[in-house]
Amino acid sequence: MFENHKAPEADKILRVMKLFADDPRADKIDLGVGVYRTPEGLTPVMGAVKAAERRLLEEQATKGYVALAGDPGFHAALRQLTFGDSAAADRIACLATPGGTGAVRQAFELLKAQNPHVTVHTSAPTWPNHEAILDTLGIRWQPYRYYDAATGGLDRDGMLADLAAVKRGDVVLLHGCCHNPTGADLDLSDWQAIADSLSRTGAVPMVDLAYQGFGNSLDEDVAGLRLLAAAMPEMLLTVSSSKNFGLYRDRVGLLLVLTETPAITQAVQGTLAWLNRQSYAFPPDHGARVVTEILSDASLRADWTAELTEMRDRVIAMREALAKALRLETQSDRFDYLLSQKGMFSRLPASEDQVAQLRREHGVYMIGDGRINMAGLIEETVRPAASAIARVLT
Ligand code: LMR
Repeated sequence: MFENHKAPEADKILRVMKLFADDPRADKIDLGVGVYRTPEGLTPVMGAVKAAERRLLEEQATKGYVALAGDPGFHAALRQLTFGDSAAADRIACLATPGGTGAVRQAFELLKAQNPHVTVHTSAPTWPNHEAILDTLGIRWQPYRYYDAATGGLDRDGMLADLAAVKRGDVVLLHGCCHNPTGADLDLSDWQAIADSLSRTGAVPMVDLAYQGFGNSLDEDVAGLRLLAAAMPEMLLTVSSSKNFGLYRDRVGLLLVLTETPAITQAVQGTLAWLNRQSYAFPPDHGARVVTEILSDASLRADWTAELTEMRDRVIAMREALAKALRLETQSDRFDYLLSQKGMFSRLPASEDQVAQLRREHGVYMIGDGRINMAGLIEETVRPAASAIARVLT
């Protein structure tokens, strides 16, 4: 049966993760996969998570099934964190999923079930797994202009021109904050312009939110998507708790679907539960319960917010240090654009060959499109990384 079996091409990001792990050099530098690291190079369990887990260990009386769509307490906690206090809960269907990727997958499954001919418009560039999942599901996708490599910012005119041409019922996929892979974010006037455009065309927004809290602050990072939710009759939101709660391997994600009326929401909620049933029946619960515990307890929530702030500050400090070191190394302001970008990622203007050369000759690992993860830097590696980048890219 499997004699002629061919595996699909490995994911671009996970391939770099493996190459890095296999490299025996002690001074290698990992700017690849998007995980947070401390100055010691660790991805630790957050203190608030440990505390919530201790409580669960003491107090949890059953491991019995919850519900196909997950725990309503978890839905409410993440709905509040993302959409805010004023969210119309009876217009939002929710589905707990294994990680943010699970939420993205189930969102696309829902779109396909609703309209097999839907086109999803993705930012150019976007997280490569968006495109891979769409391809796997046979959903048509079309890039819209987004990143301007000349400025390191947004190609606003190009984006708005492309979005003006989308069709009613098509879906426009946006990054909530900390755009992956470029770090080039939308400001509130961009979000407003997108809302106006979508209202004119009748297209539906889908927002992927994997880095809330890593840009400016927990609230500022969702101000744009809240603006959109207030303006649009329908919207999809996919949330990951991997990064901001550090719960990577526990797989905590949520899909939220805003619809026009409570009755429609009920119907969509039924389909969402069915999608989980077809895929894995019940979603994982442990990590979701940890998130709920933290968000529902004032003291744990304050501890978590403080820890997340520390993480964000470290990423910003590394971003600033790298930009400064590149200024010195290149004697130019060529890389100053890094300072205007948000979150863990930025994109270097490197060809695939240059990325391979950086890896081979300098042990500096990044994704093939030049994406770097600032959280992979520590004070001691900023200078060697900058010097390698300057040498290979100039
Ligand atoms: C990334 O973009 O590096 C992360 O979201 C990890 C992943 O699953 O791709």
